[in-house]
Amino acid sequence: MFMKNRKVRVVFQPERKEILTSIKTPIREAIEKAGVKINFPCGGKGICGKCRIRVKGKLSPLTSVEKKHLQSVENDVRLACQVAVEGDVEVEIYPLSLISFPKILTDRINRKIKIKPVIKKIYLSLSPPSLKDQIADLSRLERHLAERGIRYPLTDLDLIKRLPGVMREGDFKLTAVLEKQKLLAVEKGDTRGKNFGVAFDVGTTTVVGTLIDLDTGEELATDALLNPQTSFGEDVVSRIDFLQSHPEGLKILQKRIIGAINRIIQRLREVGEVKKENIYLATFVGNTVMQHLLLGVNPTNLALYPYVPVVKRSMELKATDLGIRINPQGSLYLFPSIAAFVGGDTVAVILATSLSNEDSRKVRLAIDIGTNGEIVLAKGKKLVCASTAAGPAFEGARISQGMRAERGAIEKVRLEEGKIEVEVIGGGRARGICGSGLIDASSQLLKEKIIDSSGRLKPSSKAKEWSSRIIRKNDHNGFLLVEKERAQDGIPIILTQKDIRELQLAKGAICSGIKILLTCLGVERDEVDEVLLAGAFGSYINPESAHLIGLIPTFPKAKVRSVGNAASLGAIMALVSEKNRKQTEKISEGVDYVELASYPDFSDILTQAMEFGKQE
Ligand code: FES
Repeated sequence: MFMKNRKVRVVFQPERKEILTSIKTPIREAIEKAGVKINFPCGGKGICGKCRIRVKGKLSPLTSVEKKHLQSVENDVRLACQVAVEGDVEVEIYPLSLISFPKILTDRINRKIKIKPVIKKIYLSLSPPSLKDQIADLSRLERHLAERGIRYPLTDLDLIKRLPGVMREGDFKLTAVLEKQKLLAVEKGDTRGKNFGVAFDVGTTTVVGTLIDLDTGEELATDALLNPQTSFGEDVVSRIDFLQSHPEGLKILQKRIIGAINRIIQRLREVGEVKKENIYLATFVGNTVMQHLLLGVNPTNLALYPYVPVVKRSMELKATDLGIRINPQGSLYLFPSIAAFVGGDTVAVILATSLSNEDSRKVRLAIDIGTNGEIVLAKGKKLVCASTAAGPAFEGARISQGMRAERGAIEKVRLEEGKIEVEVIGGGRARGICGSGLIDASSQLLKEKIIDSSGRLKPSSKAKEWSSRIIRKNDHNGFLLVEKERAQDGIPIILTQKDIRELQLAKGAICSGIKILLTCLGVERDEVDEVLLAGAFGSYINPESAHLIGLIPTFPKAKVRSVGNAASLGAIMALVSEKNRKQTEKISEGVDYVELASYPDFSDILTQAMEFGKQE
């Protein structure tokens, strides 16, 4: 029998972080309490088997989920999402389970952005009041603004409260900050030239912010953070599961993302030497779930048939509505979405790449693979888009030793004359493999005939020199990429048959999505003029390897180019130009969404597209 309220000690190694907790506390809760950063890629559902810890002490019995994932692992290894403490314990986190900072794509294409400022500043030298001129402060301001042709009523109570102080402290010389038909702020003295905004790409995995001078469009600083919601699951579905199973889940997720945004703003301000009060505008792009979570709106229905968002149109809010730390009177603009799985980030990519430019007669294809994967095809005025489940494999999820592109991840693999070479991010020993490494490794296995076009890992007679590297793991063949002696923590890195199948599924999803969109617009592959690869997908993968496995179809006449973080660029464009903001609304309404899963013969098309080397 357990003593009521008995406390047990949980020690986390190697940092020796120690907490006292109640008996039966899930380790996951203890981890949270101790502030240890560990990945729960599937959100603790017991699917991924990656939240491994080494534990000594009294613990709850092994669950069936653990039995499935840990069959060939040592006795003291457990899954952090499954186990609870039943006495004092010592916990060591597996390297692959630790959260570290991923490689974040901040590169963008260079394109000249026409500035049509959304925020304008007007300097006013008011005549001070006298016995002959006793009109109210507010009327005095309105009178001077009217002389400049600005005639809308000033109704903001906060602003009215501050007005007498600002007027008198500045000796009746002040700057009016205007946003469209609204007086946003009044500032004492002449503050022209101090007019800034921040643009955010709120990704499922990373959050990128850019500080912009709104008068000139000049970029002053860029900064990025890992989305802190990742500790509740790497994909949007895990986050929805989390909020459904925790009464405070939605609040927690919103608080985390707003916290990250505010941290980035703070860091941008320090680099750009900009005061919070002089940042008047912030724009946000993200997938539909991320935008819902940012707003604190429950996105659950996005994951349930028939996949309906709560809000699809753009949102204009006050900074204080969400607690974004810019000027409290400042405005926020959230991009509109296209469909449940095609969000504001895709609208931003379309804006940044001028894909919706009606004058263009070209046929252009944009592929943006992040944690989610979106494809857009444009032919003149017509645009169609689709969402694919291609992202998780490239970000390491569902790959047995997969990880994001961060320190310790294998990013390049070369197989030649019986020798294997791997490149690891940050140098040092490998602890897992990221998307570009997975594509590289599979293409090399294909080249060396260790796998065939069906993806089967069974070396042909020509690949005898590699037979010692084919090993059995979980009843399937695997290819030994890094021996335990050369791997971090002595865990060999093995590419399994299942990992190859996951890559094939991702490849199949992209290729079938493209094929269906081409059919929808009646376009042949040789009619495509340009292929734009957005996001990390286009920037980090080895094009040769991608070509070898047929990751995307070949377009005989198309120019293929990488456009970096185009979603961020779209957010910046909406920040500096009212015209661009209006364009986002047009894009959101004008792009047709194609639901791939309900397309006739989709599963046949997908199966065919999964074949390696196949260009259709
Ligand atoms: S199995 Fe524990 S987080 Fe996936």
